[in-house]
Amino acid sequence: MNYAIIPAAGTGTRFGGQVKKQFLELKGRSLLEWVLDEFVESGVFSKIVVCTHLNEVSDRLKSFGVDFIEGGATRFESIKKGFEFLSPQTDDIILIHDAARPVITKELIKQVAQRTSELGAVIPVTALHDTIKEVNGTQVVRTIDRSILKAVQTPQGFKAAYLSAVYDSARGDLSRYTDEAKALEELGLNVYTVPGDAKNIKVTTAEDLKLAEFYLDN
Ligand code: CTP
Ligand code: MG
Repeated sequence: MNYAIIPAAGTGTRFGGQVKKQFLELKGRSLLEWVLDEFVESGVFSKIVVCTHLNEVSDRLKSFGVDFIEGGATRFESIKKGFEFLSPQTDDIILIHDAARPVITKELIKQVAQRTSELGAVIPVTALHDTIKEVNGTQVVRTIDRSILKAVQTPQGFKAAYLSAVYDSARGDLSRYTDEAKALEELGLNVYTVPGDAKNIKVTTAEDLKLAEFYLDN
């Protein structure tokens, strides 16, 4: 079986404003609604669970026919709660996608699901185009070879057995796991990449929202 977990319990501190970014409207739909529409329409998932604040789930969100659970204090904990809610079998596949990436396509969802069934742990990545430097304060330390670096997106796909291993072993400050793949890497498990989509940006600041709106049209 394929399942999806959509973490949507963040506070959008870097974005600011009154309304949390996952509930902001772009072209008549919230970011979370754009994501849910694409995940439901992909037809790939037996169950989709959204980790969020239950008192913020509108009737419009409920109409997508997905499950909603209360999120956790960090992204990692929100997703762990989603995993426990699903209580999957070892060979089931879980795709995890940020509510803050509204320009997701069915094509990328299907590609990640397919490769995860073959490889067990898959993340979409894109090339870096700027020259990348290590800096100390305002001083340049050195230039890093950007050809070996990639920017990482979601959806990230994992066999349930891998996520179980992660949750059994995760210790200490859970906020250091900015994604599940990092926890797998620490366990020495192989994580593979597929080409991401340059338009699949994460909305972090107000500028990103304008760009996402443009990409939804183009
Ligand atoms: N998220 C979550 N639970 C948390 C924190 C984050 O489900 N406790 C979700 C966010 O809602 C978002 C995704 O994880 O869809 C990626 O997180 P990020 O872009 O960092 O969003 P926020 O944490 O809301 O933003 P910020 O870090 O600026 O506060
Ligand atoms: Mg955050």
